[in-house]
Amino acid sequence: MSKTVGIGVTGGIAAYKIAELVSKLKKDDIDVIVMMTQSATKFITPLTFKTLSDREVITDLWQESHEWKVQHIGVAEQLDLLVIAPATANMIAKMAHGIADDLISTVVLANTAPVLVVPAMNSNMYKNPVVQDNIVKLSRYAYEIMEPADGVLACGSIGPGRLPEVDAIYQKIMRMLNPKQDLRGKRLMVNAGTTCEDIDPVRFIANRSTGKMGYVIAEEAVSRGADVILVSGRSSLTPPAGVEHISAWGAEEMCEIMLKYQPACDIIIGAAAVGDFKIAQVAEQKIKKMANKSDTLMIELVGTPDILRTLGEAKKPGQIMVGFAAETQDLIENAKKKLESKNLDFIVANDVTQEGAGFAADTNIVTIIHRKGESRAFPKMTKKDVAASIIDSVVDLLN
Ligand code: PMT
Repeated sequence: MSKTVGIGVTGGIAAYKIAELVSKLKKDDIDVIVMMTQSATKFITPLTFKTLSDREVITDLWQESHEWKVQHIGVAEQLDLLVIAPATANMIAKMAHGIADDLISTVVLANTAPVLVVPAMNSNMYKNPVVQDNIVKLSRYAYEIMEPADGVLACGSIGPGRLPEVDAIYQKIMRMLNPKQDLRGKRLMVNAGTTCEDIDPVRFIANRSTGKMGYVIAEEAVSRGADVILVSGRSSLTPPAGVEHISAWGAEEMCEIMLKYQPACDIIIGAAAVGDFKIAQVAEQKIKKMANKSDTLMIELVGTPDILRTLGEAKKPGQIMVGFAAETQDLIENAKKKLESKNLDFIVANDVTQEGAGFAADTNIVTIIHRKGESRAFPKMTKKDVAASIIDSVVDLLN
């Protein structure tokens, strides 16, 4: 069943960043009820949140509601999680002292769901002992508090007080909504994106992988308590908060990095589209344009290391290894061959010619095939749900 998250937006410059948070949560089918203080409406309009959350935004304790008989009580009763972000010093003080004189502070008191408070303010205000005392008081009442980020603030001062990255808030919310911590104590390494092989100093061979599949696996694993190393080829995605991110360019570099970390890992997942060929002789200078369009240029290709096969040969007892198979024909048959040859525990086969599957899509259509023989075909799902199913299969093997 879909979850409901209430977001209380209070009056700070970071209020505009909450629009992205709402949009991210909606993509996960989470029902988001946005509440705003009057000050917050000076920084971002309720219309923005109404459009993104697909719901009326509540800005006033006395606003008429068709949904709830007594609005602040009705809202509070519906919530699985209440988030106050950005939380100003004023709202934190009210919450710490049980003051209920506006919509959000009233919902806070009527609410029985877990509460996440995300302070964001000028660093002197944040460091002020009164504010710090109030924060300590809130954590004693079991409110979850997110540390603000350090850096240059909108007011020009430098220090703690910035709203943490939206992705970090999102992850925290997902962890609070989904407290499964079945990978706690485990180290997982996943690769993602495309490797690149140089032709000359300006050109290279790559493929269509965006990194989406591997990045959501990293995100899912970290939200379930794992220590995650994300070894990423070329990708424009921002690494999920809380993962150790290592960039790799070519297949050889990616292989070296993964071999180095392999002994410390309990789980290894190969979601990257690793190039199978590299240029035999990379040109030292930029190759000159051909004189005529009809001229041809021959480039000799040689093989790259098969990363999973190399890791599979060095697999330590109990280590779980998972690969993907990106196929355009004979999906199951080809995937099974890769499962065997790379010494994997299971393989995630995707027919990359299918609509909504494989490269760049936000969805995927996969069949998980286990070494022991059983296989399960999944319908088209978001890559996030595919990642959750892969991690579920890993957890089954661990148990
Ligand atoms: O990144 P996205 O845009 O979200 O796209 C997702 C994806 C299509 C890249 C992903 O779902 C996927 O299928 N990844 C594997 C792509 C691939 O290289 O498949 P393959 O069948 O060629 O390789 C089989 C397995 O061996 C893969 O786990 C691959 O990472 C690994 N491999 C392949 C070649 C090589 N030299 N070294 C390897 O380790």
